[in-house]
Amino acid sequence: MPDLVSSSGSVWAVVPAGGSGSRFSQQQDKLLAELVGRPVLIHTVQALLSAPSVDGLVLVSSDMNQAAYQTLIRQWLPDAPVHFAIGGDTRRDSVFQGLLALPGEARIVLIHDAARPLIQPEIVEASITAVRQGNSGAIVAVPIHDTVKQTASDNRTIAQTLDRSRLWRAQTPQVFDKARLLQAHQHIAPDTPVTDDAQLMELAGLGPVTVISGDERNLKITTPTDLLMAEAFLQTR
Ligand code: CTP
Ligand code: MG
Repeated sequence: MPDLVSSSGSVWAVVPAGGSGSRFSQQQDKLLAELVGRPVLIHTVQALLSAPSVDGLVLVSSDMNQAAYQTLIRQWLPDAPVHFAIGGDTRRDSVFQGLLALPGEARIVLIHDAARPLIQPEIVEASITAVRQGNSGAIVAVPIHDTVKQTASDNRTIAQTLDRSRLWRAQTPQVFDKARLLQAHQHIAPDTPVTDDAQLMELAGLGPVTVISGDERNLKITTPTDLLMAEAFLQTR
């Protein structure tokens, strides 16, 4: 009788950390910024590895930052199952390099931005469960509360008001069947503009990808203000 663990396959995370953080600072790497006593990157890696279903992760960084990140992981998490890969010019390229570096046993892959340190292990688990139940993918997202306007080509005149009851703000993690995500990366031309992994699956017609309700606090550290908000959220946890 096949055992349950191997038939559902192992779950690995790919963590894109290969950006330059240009909107945060030209001087300081946002992923090394201190957030309540630990670097942002360490929060992210610890949160992912504390989700019971996650077997390990591939940290994707720029060539320039790889040695520093390796040292940091060894200092903070000496025995953690963390592999390393070198990313590319875009987030999509970095994710693809991470996928190529996954161990062969990985069947489900979870993509999670290094810049989202407040992810909760329970939400990670819920997104993995959705893929284990047969979806091609599951992404964490939050409903939109503001009224959303679409403008005309002048980008000023309102063309229409979108029905916000069906609009979501996509976050990460985004979890997929590894083979199908690789297929999407290989089928969609490299110069196609995409802003997340689910979009590649949509373009490749490889659904269904489902939405898991996330948490507003799972913010992406983009500007220094985001770091202050993350601090405030952590202090009230
Ligand atoms: N990322 C990556 N490789 C790239 C670009 C981005 O791995 N070539 C990663 C970032 O390190 C980050 C995540 O993708 O963890 C989301 O990107 P973003 O928040 O835009 O970070 P940066 O690209 O680093 O920041 P900026 O756009 O302000 O330069
Ligand atoms: Mg960027």
